[in-house]
Amino acid sequence: MNLNKCVLKCGTSLLLVFMANYASSHQNNHQKVPIESKPEETTKDTFKEVNEAYIKSVKPIFQKSCFDCHSSNTQYPWYSNIPGVKQLIRSDVSEAKEHLDMTNDFPFSGHGEPLEDLKAIGKQVDNGEMPPFRYMIIHSESELSETDKKIILEWVHASIKKFDEAK
Ligand code: HEC
Repeated sequence: MNLNKCVLKCGTSLLLVFMANYASSHQNNHQKVPIESKPEETTKDTFKEVNEAYIKSVKPIFQKSCFDCHSSNTQYPWYSNIPGVKQLIRSDVSEAKEHLDMTNDFPFSGHGEPLEDLKAIGKQVDNGEMPPFRYMIIHSESELSETDKKIILEWVHASIKKFDEAK
């Protein structure tokens, strides 16, 4: 086997191993987490408390910065009249909602479990990845202020703790 062939072969098998790992870790992520194994009442109370705190302090921020994509209350902007743009926005919104749909308050719907969602929100907000830059440059009002971030992260951490304690 010459060197080129070897590189190609090894590269391909490495890629396959990587993809198999990725697929299985992805599956594991989406298994139902054991929140359900708790007595129903405790879980319900925890959800209720987390949701009450959400509605009071976090929801107004999400309405301003996230709802256009992560809810059924999309306000289509003026530039959506440009041919093709509405299509683009629609696919962005449907992808965003598949991941995380905030329409009906907490627990959010989407593909994740509530605890996963909280962690994902914490991560995205902490890293400044959401709202996406492409959206912020047009909707500058959606940018999260330092205070917004603090409020969101405090809610995320307090909620994760509540779920832990309910275990
Ligand atoms: C312009 C549309 C848009 C806005 C506005 C937006 N998002 Fe997103 N969001 C997306 C899209 C598209 C995805 C899925 C692809 C990706 O991760 O980039 C996503 C993914 C996510 C995820 C990952 C969910 C998962 O399954 O891991 C989280 C968490 C999230 N967004 C939170 C937020 C929060 C919080 C805000 C507001 C502060 C926000 N997003 C604003 C489009 C948006």
